[in-house]
Amino acid sequence: MARPFNFNPGPATLPESVLKQVQQELLDYQGRGLSVMEMSHRSEAFLEIAANAERDLRALLNLSSDYTVLFLQGGAKGQNAAVPLNLLGNRTTIDFVHTGHWSKNSIEEAKKYAQVHLAASAESSGFYHVPPQSEWQMSDNPAYLHICANETITGVEYSFTPKVSSVPLVADMSSNFLSREIEVNRFGLIYAGAQKNVGPAGVTIVIVKNDLLDRALPICPSIWHYATQKKHEWMLNTPPTFAIYVSGLVFAWLRREGGLAAMEKRNQEKADRLYALLDRGDFYRGKVHKKSRSRMNVTFDLPNETLTGLFVEEAKENGLINLKGHKISGGIRASIYNAMPIEGVDALIAFMEAFEKKNG
Ligand SMILES: Cc1ncc(COP(=O)(O)O)c(C=O)c1O
Repeated sequence: MARPFNFNPGPATLPESVLKQVQQELLDYQGRGLSVMEMSHRSEAFLEIAANAERDLRALLNLSSDYTVLFLQGGAKGQNAAVPLNLLGNRTTIDFVHTGHWSKNSIEEAKKYAQVHLAASAESSGFYHVPPQSEWQMSDNPAYLHICANETITGVEYSFTPKVSSVPLVADMSSNFLSREIEVNRFGLIYAGAQKNVGPAGVTIVIVKNDLLDRALPICPSIWHYATQKKHEWMLNTPPTFAIYVSGLVFAWLRREGGLAAMEKRNQEKADRLYALLDRGDFYRGKVHKKSRSRMNVTFDLPNETLTGLFVEEAKENGLINLKGHKISGGIRASIYNAMPIEGVDALIAFMEAFEKKNG
């Protein structure tokens, strides 16, 4: 069966070789006579799967022992609550850079636990840019500074890692995690839902600096209490075993493909090809400021709604699915995460050129 190219923003396309391995091992995991889904999370086989997943993730990120990795549940939205509950300590204020929908979600959740200070906002551009750090104004003594590294809906991505000297930097990296090299030691905490660049929905990755583990509020639920989860090797409760298994296969695939440096190069090339087409004329119009263009979610408008609908429909007939933009911003969104091959982007470009010729 020929699979179409799937541009879904998440859950998103997975590497075909990983899906095939899952298929092969689905009924009988490596001769054990049962599926990973049917195993105890305390079994020797699953503990090995978990250890390999963590080992490969650490290797990809070149992670030092100063950082703890946790595979949790509750999605990135859960972390919008868990992060303040774990990192507020005896401070009262959290600083945010507001770049769009997902920043807004984090801000609203944090307001339940702390005062929120907007160090910067992208409102002036309609949330189509990342405010340069020279414009940011931090509060006096924040518990941490929170950014959303890639706004998935509008396609706005940081092209720089903010420099914050003594304040821990926290990033929601749900939609660009593992898509490029990351200087983890510049961050206090990184979190990401798996369902875009990592694996199936259900597992949320948290990478946290060990020296931030003693700041949790007493009301923090145990399952989201980072120090408790660390103590229990992130198995305080039953972890999302199947999602961790598939994510582990993706980590191994990433290592075989050359790691994050190779991914970064490939992702940049895919995005450059698409943006070059947007810049060639005015039939396809990207709204994001050039410096803040996402390499993961490429968004653009067509001249009118009728053409937008027709584009989505005809793309589907041509084996290019899930290109409709989010209802908040409309238009088209092509999500081109790690597992989208360059051939998928080239097929989309060929379709876009033909569509413009016919309708432009
Ligand atoms: C950047 C970002 N943050 C947070 C979320 C919410 O993630 P979850 O559904 O895992 O809670 C999403 C989902 O698309 C996202 O793209």
